[in-house]
Formats: sequence, structure tokens, C-alpha cells
Amino acid sequence: MTTQTTLLHEPETTTVDSTLQQTITQMIDDMIGRLPDPKDLSSVERRGIIARYSSVLEGNFIYWMTATLIATKAEAARSILLDNLYEETRDAHPHMMRKFAMAANAFPTDKDALAVHEEVTQMRLFLGKLVAVQSLLSMAFFEGYIQKYMAFLAALAAEEGSTEMEYTDVHGVCDIEHTAGLYRALALEQAINPIGSEMDIFEGVTMLCAVLERINTIEQN
Ligand SMILES: [Fe+2]
Repeated sequence: MTTQTTLLHEPETTTVDSTLQQTITQMIDDMIGRLPDPKDLSSVERRGIIARYSSVLEGNFIYWMTATLIATKAEAARSILLDNLYEETRDAHPHMMRKFAMAANAFPTDKDALAVHEEVTQMRLFLGKLVAVQSLLSMAFFEGYIQKYMAFLAALAAEEGSTEMEYTDVHGVCDIEHTAGLYRALALEQAINPIGSEMDIFEGVTMLCAVLERINTIEQN
């Protein structure tokens, strides 16, 4: 699925912080491990999860990756982000997302969008602070989470009678490479534009966790 030749600018020796990566991977695995079995949910509950996920992803993923690009100063890291955005745009991933939700009869309503309003707002305001390393770690977490979430999302849609699986098929595969790219971008940016020692590198990850937990919370329906 990848694309441009911009990655040629990337230095050969980019050391990714394996401890940080392991922490993020563990956080993702814990969240994925807490997901319910789609068969144990009602149709309304399954539809709600798909609709809230779609409400967040369709309109925000490219925006949040763009916010991260704007914050990032390392040229080689910017190339990685641009490559990601190139693919998102060329292959019309928001359209893929919408098709997936519509086919599962889960196109988001105002209620679905408002269910995640507070958490999405916090994430938007956080990214507006344009702290590159925090934003890059958030997007690395996001890509890693999405890739592992796809089997669950596809199962929800299948239980709702859908066979439209392009979105989940594509993101279960391409986000493996995207996640690795985001970690390289993080390392490149840290080398020239580290955050202050008083700052919490997980600030955006924590906010994104709140968005994703809200998506998966079924009591609100
Ligand atoms: Fe995508």
C-alpha cells in the first residue's frame, strides 16, 4: 500500500525506544483484551460501537495526523507522516470508513457523535498545543490500536449482517507498517526536538485512551 519515495530522506540509524514501544504495546493489548465478545452484545450495542468509532475516525484521523505533521520539525519524520497522509488521501480512507459503517447500518447519528464529544474535544485541544513528541507517540499508539482492533470491528459488522470489510481488511494490514513508521518518526523527532523533562510523554496517549474507551462503553445506549 505504500507510496512515495520520501522515506529516502530517513537516516539509516534511527533507534526506536524499545521500552516506550513495549509500554504502548502492553497498553494496547490490555485494551483489546477487555473488549467484549461481539456475540454477547445486543444489536443496538454492536451498532453503537461501530457508529461511535466511525464518528471519531472518519472526521478526525487525517486531521489528527495533520496536526502531528504541523508540530513535527525533523524532516525525515515529516516525510513519514506525509507518506501516511498521502495513502489516507489517495485511497480515500474516510470513504472506506463511511462505507463500512453504512453497510453495518451503523452510520453515526448526532447521539453517537455527542457520546464521544467530551473526549474528542480534549484530544483536539491537546493536539492544538503542537507538542511533537507527545503527538507522535499518540499517533503511534493510535495506529497500533487500530490494527489490533480491526478483527473486533469486523466481527461486530459481520454480526450485524454486513459483508463490507474493505476498511477492516486494509487497516488490519497497512497499519502494521504505519505503526513502525510512527515509532521511527518519534525517534527522529526526539533526537532534535525532545520534550522537557517536566512534561508527561503519555499525555496524549492518555487522552486517546479515553476516546477509545468511550467508543467501547456500551452502557450509554
Ligand atoms: Fe486509514
